[in-house]
Amino acid sequence: MISSLNFPRHGDKQNSDFFEHYLVALLEERDRVGLTDMISEIDAIMLTVDPGQSINYIAELCLMSPYNYLVTLESESHWTHILRVDMDSPDILVREVKDANIHGIFRSLNEVYPIGAQKPNCRYMGEILRVENLHEVVELQNAREFRFFTQNDTRKLELPGNVAMTKPSPYTHNIVGYMERPEDQLRIYALGMSSILPEVQEVYLAAKELQKKLEIIDLLQPIDHLATRVYSQNREVAMLEYLSLTSYYYWGSYDIKDQNSSTNVTKSAHFEEESKSPAKVFTANNTPYFVNHLEKLPSPTENFVRNYGPRLHHIAFSVRDGITHELTNIDYVVKSIQEQGKDFLLGVIGSQEEGLKQIFSSASEHSSLIIEYVQRFGDFDGFFAKDNVAELTRAAGVDEELLSLHEQSHTQH
Ligand SMILES: [Fe+2]
Repeated sequence: MISSLNFPRHGDKQNSDFFEHYLVALLEERDRVGLTDMISEIDAIMLTVDPGQSINYIAELCLMSPYNYLVTLESESHWTHILRVDMDSPDILVREVKDANIHGIFRSLNEVYPIGAQKPNCRYMGEILRVENLHEVVELQNAREFRFFTQNDTRKLELPGNVAMTKPSPYTHNIVGYMERPEDQLRIYALGMSSILPEVQEVYLAAKELQKKLEIIDLLQPIDHLATRVYSQNREVAMLEYLSLTSYYYWGSYDIKDQNSSTNVTKSAHFEEESKSPAKVFTANNTPYFVNHLEKLPSPTENFVRNYGPRLHHIAFSVRDGITHELTNIDYVVKSIQEQGKDFLLGVIGSQEEGLKQIFSSASEHSSLIIEYVQRFGDFDGFFAKDNVAELTRAAGVDEELLSLHEQSHTQH
């Protein structure tokens, strides 16, 4: 049996007594009742885009990541495209709403936020975790007061019928799904009619051809981490809730003082390799927005949450360690992708001496999500460098400020 409290703690951010008490209490109980063993890796992640956006987004993802287009599941009011690297890393489910007038629960999560509302169907939904016994896991989680969509809800929402999904978290607005799958079986999503759409296949193949031509196809690796932004006061509860829903453990938190923010990391207790089950990172401001006028501290994280709502901020892909055409692979990948017209928020930061290099792309116009690239050098096993995180947080905040100004200029007249 795995002991979820036996992992070394990293970081310098102080947590409250409440957090430290319930971290132990919740993980001990999770291990004891068997949930840690019963819940395995992240098998898929899910997101929704607005009408007309999914093909462009798939073209972008297939160029910027190792993902391949597999198949499309068509239901009454959605297309759900399945993207896959292989069975050793999670699938991405890209859902497109067919009709702009459809109103559902995921859309309403966007509508009260000034920038989030501009792309009302565009949002990351959450992760699907692999379980060996769906019924048992759901029963245990029901007893721990987690709420699930009913079978009827799932059918109406046009979500895979073989996945049990929680209601959106009050802290992250994300959902967690459980899918029963023995380790040696392929992933199957019970939803609609399955076919390979020629127009999606075409952009997918073009992207892979381009990756080959650019010599980046072997450099891009699976998802390293998923970073969610939450309101400052929800930092600890968002993590404790996620730990209760998964078999992840608390890796540690770093205070990014320079940006009045912290980075809080949870990782799979089953798999050390992020490629198998990505780390889940929670970022929160250190102080709430209404003390800004007193403290005069930068608050890019709190501003993001106020503008978009709590949600996923970026998907980080790992870049293979090494050198291509005299550039470190990450510099080579960024240069190649930039030449195809994709923007990045800043230059590549970090260095070989520090152990890793990182960069943020601009937010995708199709999904609003930022792509991060991260290259770790040699045997560096640290998760990030504090100076890098401060610089990335600052750059994303500047970009978002521009979007926010853009939004204001639209609403003021
Ligand atoms: Fe990140």
